[in-house]
Amino acid sequence: MRCQVAIIGGGPSGLLLSQLLHRAGIDTVVLERQSRDYVLSRIRAGVLEWGSVEMLREAGVGARMDAEGYPHDGVYLACRNEGFRIDFKDLVGKQVMVYGQTEATRDLYEARDRMDGKVIHNVEAVQIHGADSDAPYVTYTRDGTEHRLDCDWVAGCDGFHGVSRQTIPASVLKEFERVYPFGWLGILSETPPVDDELIYAQHERGFALCSMRNARLSRYYVQVAQDDKVENWSDDAFWDELRRRIPEDAAERLVTGPSIEKSIAPLRSYVAEPMRWGRLFLVGDAAHIVPPTGAKGLNLAVSDVHYLYHALVQAYEGDAHGVTHYSEQALARVWKSERFSWSMTGLLHRFPDRGAFEARMQEAELDYLQHSRAAQTSLAENYVGLPY
Ligand code: FAD
Ligand code: DHB
Repeated sequence: MRCQVAIIGGGPSGLLLSQLLHRAGIDTVVLERQSRDYVLSRIRAGVLEWGSVEMLREAGVGARMDAEGYPHDGVYLACRNEGFRIDFKDLVGKQVMVYGQTEATRDLYEARDRMDGKVIHNVEAVQIHGADSDAPYVTYTRDGTEHRLDCDWVAGCDGFHGVSRQTIPASVLKEFERVYPFGWLGILSETPPVDDELIYAQHERGFALCSMRNARLSRYYVQVAQDDKVENWSDDAFWDELRRRIPEDAAERLVTGPSIEKSIAPLRSYVAEPMRWGRLFLVGDAAHIVPPTGAKGLNLAVSDVHYLYHALVQAYEGDAHGVTHYSEQALARVWKSERFSWSMTGLLHRFPDRGAFEARMQEAELDYLQHSRAAQTSLAENYVGLPY
């Protein structure tokens, strides 16, 4: 089999890239290790920057998001059970969109089906060959049979544990990493959200976040120890802990119910450089991970797709500038989102290895944020997403 761009991974970045390229007349094959049902069962990100909203529209998959998503004009931050609002609309004239990653991924799969896009599920043993030559190809097995896919370019959209990054020789790849000494315990519940907007709460017991998927579906998180286990947390214990950490008026309004999903995610900052090796590109989580504070993971995957999509279209028009500079262009934005996610994580979490001085620093910074329009503008500008 042959295609122009072989895409490893059928998560949001692989599907979006494939959809955009197909609409531009460039032919792709997506190779995904899991089944479609499995990919759509993963509960992940919930907040889209406006640039991501526009990219999904450009890919022709914006209709349901525009009908069912929730534009938000601001967020609440809280310190010691008292909240204050950051008004994006007023500060930087922009909004974000609450629309779950699962829904955006479902829309992308349906769009790929409508265009007869090739997405091959349940592939195993994917290997990338000749990425540093002019004739790369990918091999994989499916139902025990080995297949070969020849291509012009390979897009590694296969997440943090994929094969693409591992294909780049260790002598070329530089890695930058920070692992945080805590995780997020998240639940999904069929209850109305506690507020119309998100609440990011700093508290001496640890961070908490109130988010949502729609008017009847809430997503809440509390900071837990790195080695904590989901089995240690009954629903009642979760709700009690959440109530302790959020503003008092929100705690009083909180509607609780049984969780329909409960999981713990570790927190990590990670960047791999470069994001291109010969004809192989790294995209999204394959190249970088952010801690979730600030909602940047999915949005960074979308901005990588933006750069790569335009670079590949240019390359097929005879101009290699975009592909040559993809890595530095994408990394410039990646590092700024890494910085924001790292600083929001530092501002809002309780660090077991830090003392009373650092706790006061956090409180002083939150107090400064509450009363300084300049500080709020900086946070708002980063939260809604820096320009591409
Ligand atoms: P992925 O979504 O990881 O997709 C990669 C795909 O590649 C997967 O479908 C995988 O099955 C496939 N794959 C992997 N290896 C291979 C292989 N060898 N061959 C073929 N296919 C392969 N971000 C936020 O902003 N907010 C959140 O709340 C949030 N929560 C998260 C919770 C968890 C548990 C995780 C893991 C991530 C979370 N993120 C969150 C991050 C966000 O979901 C990711 O940044 C986003 O999914 C990146 O998209 P991607 O397409 O690059 O990678
Ligand atoms: C959600 C996750 C985040 O990491 C975040 O910063 C905001 C919202 C969510 O899952 O809804």
